[in-house]
Amino acid sequence: MSLLEVKQVNFSYNSKNFFKGKVQTNNILNEISFVIEEGKCLGLIGTSGAGKSTLGKVILGIQRPQQGKVLFQGYDIYNLNKAIKQKIRRDLQVVFQDSNSAVNPRMTAEQIISEPLENFEKLSIGEKRRMVIELLERVGLSERDLKKYPHQFSGGQLQRINIARAIALQPKLIVLDESVSSLDMVTQSLILQLLSDLKDDFGLSYLFITHDIKAAFSISDQIGVLEKGELIELYDSKDQFFSSKHPIVKRLRESILAEHPRFRTISTKVNWV
Ligand SMILES: Nc1ncnc2c1ncn2[C@@H]1O[C@H](COP(=O)(O)OP(=O)(O)O)[C@@H](O)[C@H]1O
Ligand SMILES: [Mg+2]
Repeated sequence: MSLLEVKQVNFSYNSKNFFKGKVQTNNILNEISFVIEEGKCLGLIGTSGAGKSTLGKVILGIQRPQQGKVLFQGYDIYNLNKAIKQKIRRDLQVVFQDSNSAVNPRMTAEQIISEPLENFEKLSIGEKRRMVIELLERVGLSERDLKKYPHQFSGGQLQRINIARAIALQPKLIVLDESVSSLDMVTQSLILQLLSDLKDDFGLSYLFITHDIKAAFSISDQIGVLEKGELIELYDSKDQFFSSKHPIVKRLRESILAEHPRFRTISTKVNWV
């Protein structure tokens, strides 16, 4: 059994036309199917508006698809009893792009990271603090950061805090939606390294959503290309991606090759199987 199975998912937003009063249906995702195995990362790339974030929300149980199924550990996430729902809420976490708006500016790092622990675990104050310190250290921060507020951290540090919160409950799958996209190149590669280490240490799986193909290359075991709501191709190896004849993939490839030669150094670290 795969950790996550997405089966023929169709999703549309219904919006009411202001002038005509009619309901309009915008098809966003068409017949999407793929699996993510335990301990693996699927990179989902595609241009802006392709439907990547919507697909992330469908997988997180936030947007119910009109058709199709999302199975997590074999359970249909839109048809769960209370006990399984609780378990899946622990096992399935998310880190969004904008680290600033993802956190409450009036909460300290300690409060931000303890929140999921308070919701799901019965810990004493001392145990909770010890866990938060361990989590801070695991993401490259320290006890000195406990009492700091979001505005006292850089974008990269704040993203480390978001990652610490996401791993606090030892989840199985993390949806990373443009999680490194707003960071500078150096910070981006440090966070990618952290994510990669956490994946190896905890056997974590990721759905790594990005418009940045280079970032996707550096962490993914498999890559999917989403374009206008269609998952046009899935690749298990770098060679497959580079030899694809699909016109959209050709365009994506040209956009990388046209860029700085720096990409060549990143591509040597690729995780392809
Ligand atoms: N809440 C919403 N209501 C209506 N349309 C939406 C909503 N959210 C996103 N869309 C539309 O769905 C399409 C896909 O958006 P999104 O999933 O955010 O794409 P991506 O993350 O690939 O940039 C876009 O055309 C967007 O305008
Ligand atoms: Mg998006």
